[in-house]
Parts: sequence; structure tokens; C-alpha cells
Amino acid sequence: MKNKTLGVAIVGGLSLLTIGLGFTLEANHSASKQLVSQSDSILVQNNEATEMNTFITDLMTKMTIEEKIGQMNLLTSDLDVTGPTIRAGYKDDILKGRVGALFNAFTPEYTNRLQRMAVEETRLGIPLLFGYDVIHGHKTIFPISLGESASWDLDAIRKGARIAAKEAAADGIHWTFAPMVDIARDPRWGRISESAGEDVYLAKEIAKARVKGFQGDDLKATDTILACAKHYAAYGQAQGGRDYHSTDMSQRELFETYLPPFKATIDAGVTTFMTSFNDLNGVPATGNKYLLDDILRKEWGFDGFVVTDYTSINEMVPHGFAEDNKHAAGIALNAGVDMDMQGSVYHDHLTDLLNEGKVTVAQINRATRRILEMKYKLGLFEDPYRYSNEERAQSDILNQEHLDAARDVARKSMVLLKNNDKTLPLSADVKSIALIGPLANSKADMVGSWAGAGHADRDTRPVSLLTGIKERAGEQVKIHYAKGASYAFQDADDVSGFDEAIRAAEKSEVIILAMGEEWSMTGEAASRTKLDMPGNQIALMKALRKLNKPIILVLLSGRPLTIDWEQEYLDSILMAWYPGTMGGLAIADILFGDYNPSGKLPVTFPRTVGQVPIYYNMKNTGRPYDPRQPNSKYVSRYLNTDNSPLYPFGFGLSYTTFDYSEITLSKTRILENDKLTASINLTNSGNYDGEEVVQLYVRDRVGSVTRPVKELKGFQKVMLKQGETKTVEFEISTDDLAFYRQDMSYGVEAGFFDVYIGTSSQQNRQAEFAISEETQSPH
Ligand code: BGC
Repeated sequence: MKNKTLGVAIVGGLSLLTIGLGFTLEANHSASKQLVSQSDSILVQNNEATEMNTFITDLMTKMTIEEKIGQMNLLTSDLDVTGPTIRAGYKDDILKGRVGALFNAFTPEYTNRLQRMAVEETRLGIPLLFGYDVIHGHKTIFPISLGESASWDLDAIRKGARIAAKEAAADGIHWTFAPMVDIARDPRWGRISESAGEDVYLAKEIAKARVKGFQGDDLKATDTILACAKHYAAYGQAQGGRDYHSTDMSQRELFETYLPPFKATIDAGVTTFMTSFNDLNGVPATGNKYLLDDILRKEWGFDGFVVTDYTSINEMVPHGFAEDNKHAAGIALNAGVDMDMQGSVYHDHLTDLLNEGKVTVAQINRATRRILEMKYKLGLFEDPYRYSNEERAQSDILNQEHLDAARDVARKSMVLLKNNDKTLPLSADVKSIALIGPLANSKADMVGSWAGAGHADRDTRPVSLLTGIKERAGEQVKIHYAKGASYAFQDADDVSGFDEAIRAAEKSEVIILAMGEEWSMTGEAASRTKLDMPGNQIALMKALRKLNKPIILVLLSGRPLTIDWEQEYLDSILMAWYPGTMGGLAIADILFGDYNPSGKLPVTFPRTVGQVPIYYNMKNTGRPYDPRQPNSKYVSRYLNTDNSPLYPFGFGLSYTTFDYSEITLSKTRILENDKLTASINLTNSGNYDGEEVVQLYVRDRVGSVTRPVKELKGFQKVMLKQGETKTVEFEISTDDLAFYRQDMSYGVEAGFFDVYIGTSSQQNRQAEFAISEETQSPH
């Protein structure tokens, strides 16, 4: 079997030439027009680049070394707190020209006030760059990132980021610390909620959509902001799911799984990168020259700037990688870190390190230039106040269009996990509903973690589920609400609210439970060893079940929970994540059948925490378990739990049903560098119009290294009216099948492949094809 790397990059580089040479006269004409306009725009870009370079070179000749180091210093304001330290004198630092960027500051009034200090009261008047964690919305909050990813709707995700950027920009922000593109396969890790889930292909597509949404087409526009790919790299594999813990992985795992979403952000034009807290194979990511210089700069050609995570340079001391902060500062700059977030170690030590010859002026100049370039690209040197804008803040933030979009994305993000006997949607004749649970009348739990400026205790207005249901149900339907239970860990044995909940349920035809985790149980520094419903919620569920009434669980959490009891005994389960500002209304849309659920899980739900890590594209092993022979001994299995997950990746039900035809392949044998088409006919065979996420998976049966049992290679979200049939087509090229081979070269190997198309990673049709070298058969 010959291994051959596909020349993807080279093909891209030559495409311009091929257009001009290969076309007919007419095509040539338009092609040459295209060439002219392309070269025109290259010229404009070159001119702009030259102007920028001249401007920055000129500015830098006026800057002292301290002022340059000042540009490399990012401090938090005290308006919001997102980490363990704040620096009391940050305003004084601004006035002394020691700060290049500030985060956790927003509103036009506040950012303008701080900006004036930098522009009017420092020697050179270099404007500040304002950063913030605009993660899933600024004030109009969209579903948490994991939830948004469950929509598998890239346009909706891009739009969410676009709106977030627009609101943030009007509020004075130039730069978001998003998207977070860490692959996350361990639900114990609270930050799984910020991720796009477990799959590399889906995460790459979502990463690109988010970068494009935040940055738009033109950074100079006043409604676009810089994006930041974080946390570079491998943070998602924290040992034991404990936040900030070490990661240790093979180079293959790093390249195959953890790095591709970062590379995808570069392909989408991301302008900044953030290092991660973890150490990777013994080297902290913030001092990791291999990651920051060899891969990011040299291999990927990234030309934006790199910021650390919150005090992560300083943390190289407790990591045991640096003797003290000064040592750590030198390591970070030498590794390729341009900006120090909140650690003040560049500010405190770079001058001394320079005098001692441990860092160079060239390194400081390079970092300063990269940061100034971003300020220039945003237009801040033309007008430092152009983002903060009271009028735009008034008209854009939380406007109806944004609220409608948030509601739409929220309902697209929800995943129907169970629906026995068509319990959902609720009957149009329902006259009484019991709404029970600690998340039913909560605003904070609608927006979830990292809701930044949109958090419930700010001037925003998340719609609780109670409000949403009341609004939709109207006067005719009685809503009997009782909190009933608590999600607090320490309340596990408390039954004080149960009677009230049972009374509410007794008076009602149907019971809706709003249960799950409190919002602060997921996100940063929120790891758990158990993944069950916290507090006394399950005890209340068991008590309510005795009433023999239909029970619908609206599950609110930022991670997969182990809900095997709920799956067995409740009638319907809707995974609603933390759905955002319009969450209560969006959930009501689904419960009452105004929207037919279309979300699919971007992450596997385990049956029990002991199965973790569990994800769909694992390896087969040499002794795979065969469910048809459940009692085999010497196979890869658990004695007490099935190998299968509770809900697999890609799973999600609809109020309608979809029938998949067999797969048709345009060819069953292709050569390297060739393509084939796989298609199915999809029919909506149920009683509702609805959307289906059609998923394409491939398995490479034999490789020079073992290959996953299945890998997602494409998906399409398709709308079908009742009774309608559509043909869904996927093109599979040999590029899609490339991987890191035994010698770590990247490319495809000839052989047989299974192709699967279906409704989840576990339910699909199967066909097979082969890649062969020129004249030989695959084996
Ligand atoms: C988090 C980052 C975040 C930063 C700034 C850190 O603790 O890890 O994701 O962007 O704080 O708030």
C-alpha cells in the first residue's frame, strides 16, 4: 500500500493560475476580469499594509522600551471579575502608559472615560484595546456554546456571534475572548459547556462560523470585533476532568483531535490566540515554544498576536516550570507570547530581562508591532472612540431583532431525548400544568455561565421558564408552580418542598419538571466527579412519579448528565442547556409544538460517570464487544454497565419521523485525488413539518495506524414538509479521508471504506467503497 500525501495547500496556491489558463474565451474573459479585480484588491491590500507598516514604524521609533512593554500588558478593570486577582492601581497604570489593553470594562460611558485617560493623558496617546468574554452573546444572550452547537446550524451560529459582536462593539468592546475551540470529551470538566463538544469536524465548522461572525468581513466596521481562538492547546483533556489539570497526550492525538479546530480558526482569519492554563506533556502551554512558535507561527503562518490566559505566565511558577515570575516572563516571551493577561510580569520584569540579555529588543518590538497592528486594523488610531457609542448601544443592544434571533437559535439548540406516547407537544386541550423544579422560576439559570454583561443581575431580562410558559399558555390554562426541590449539593436529604410540589401536580393534567444543574455548576472551575442531578431533585421526581401522570423533564445543564433513571421512568425529556435571554419562551415554543425540535447532541451522554471518556469515534480494540453475545468474557467491556452510551453523539428526536433510503454511491472505487458522491432520499413520514440533521460518517477499515470506528465527515440540516422527500447528497473526496499516518505524514491510504448516512452516529445506512492506486486493487 503506497502512502501518498495529497497536495491540498499546493492545489490552493495554484488555483489562480489554472483559472486563467484552462477556460474558453468567454470564461477566460471573466476569469481575467476576476484576475484583474483580484490583483486590484491585492494592490489595495498591499497599499493598506504599507500604510499601516509606515504608520506603526513611525510610531514605534517614538516609543520608549517601557512604552512598548506597556502595550504588551493587559489588565482587568474592576467592573467585572473573571479571575482570582485584580490590580487596584490599573487606572494609574493607564495614565503612566503601562497598559496596552484592558478587559472586563464595557459601556460607552466607562470605556470612553478610560480611553480618554490613554489618549489624552499619556505621552503618545496610544488608544487602549478593550477585550471581554463575549462568549454566547453580549447582553442578548444566546444558548451556551455547547447548546448552540447542538443546533448543527452554522448560519444560526454565525448570526449569534455577529449579533454578539454588534452589541459588544456598541458597548465599547473591540475584542472578544472567543471562540473557545477546545475539543471536550469529559463531562466532568465544567468547561465542556463552553465548547462545541467532542467531534473534530463539527468543532472545526463551528469554530469557523464563530470567527466569521465576530470579525465579519471588515475589521474596520464599527460592528465587528477581534476574535480570539482559545485555549491553545489541549486544555480540554484535563486529567480526571479537573479544571486546570495537566494534559498528557501523544503527538498523534494532539494533531488529530486537539489542534484542528485551532487551525480552522486561522483558515477563517482569526486575529488573536490565547494560551491555555495546562501543561502539555510537561511543558506549560504559556511557555511552550513548540506550540506557539513551531506550530502556530511557522507551520500555520499565524500573524496576529498571542495573549496569555489570566495570570498564566505567573502560574508557570506553581507548575514548577519557572523559579519565579521573572524567570516565567522570560520563558513566555521566548516561547512567543505577545501579551500578558493580568499577570503584570512583562511590566515588572521585561526591562531587567532585556538588560541581562535574556530577551531581545527584537522580541519586544515584534510583540508590540503585532498588537499595534490590531489597533490599527480596528481603526482606533483614526478614532479611538469609534466603538463606544451611546446611540448605537441604545438602538442595538437587546433590540427586538436580536431577541428574536436569540429565541430562534435557542429553540434550534434544544434536543428531544425521549418522547413516549407523543407526550410532547402538549395537547391543545390541556387545561392545567404543574411546573416544578429549582430552575423553573430562575433567570440566572436561563443564561448560564459566561453570560458576561448579560447576566441576570445586570440590566437585562432573561425570560424564565415560568414566564415563558404562562405567556404561551394564556389565561385558559392553569399553571401550578412549585419550586419543590433544590439543586444544592447539601440539600440532598431535604424534603421540605415536596408536599407543595405534589399538591401542584395533583391539581394538574401534566407535570413539567425544570431540573438540572445550577448555572454556576458548569463553566470555569466547575468540575464534578458525579454527573447525576444534584441535590434532592431525583427524590422529588420519584415521589411525583407515584401520581401516574405524564411527566416531562426540561433538563437545564451545561454538560451531559447521567440520567438513566429519568430515561427509564419519565415520559419525555427535552435537553434545553442554558438557552439564553429568551430561554423561557423558546422552551415554551417546543413544549406547545410551535417549533418542532431539530437539535442533535454534539456530545455523548454516558450512562454512568465510570464510562468517561466515552465518545463515538473511539477505536474498535482487538477484542470488541458484540452485543449479540452479551456474556462473552474476554472482550472489551464492563461487568456492570453496557458499553453503549445513554444517548449517542448526533442523537436527537423530532415530533415527526424521517425515513432514510439505502445509500447510492456514484462510484464504488475511486483513485487517489478523486471524489465520489453518496446520496440518500430522505422522507418526512410523520405528521409535522420538520428539520433533520443528516449526518455522514466514514470508517477507514484498515490503516497504517488503527482508525476510529466512525468519523463525522459532513452534515446537512434539511427542512422537509410532511410527506416530502428530498435527495441529500454528499461529496466525499480523498482529502476528507486523509489522516496522520504511521510516520506522521498526512494523507490518505488506499483500501476499503464504510460510508454511513443517518440520523445519529449510531443509526444509519451503510455502504462501502474503495480507494485504489492507479491500476492496482486496494489490497
Ligand atoms: C479564562 C478565559 C477567559 C479569561 C478572561 C480565564 O480565567 O480561562 O477563558 O477568557 O479568564 O476572563
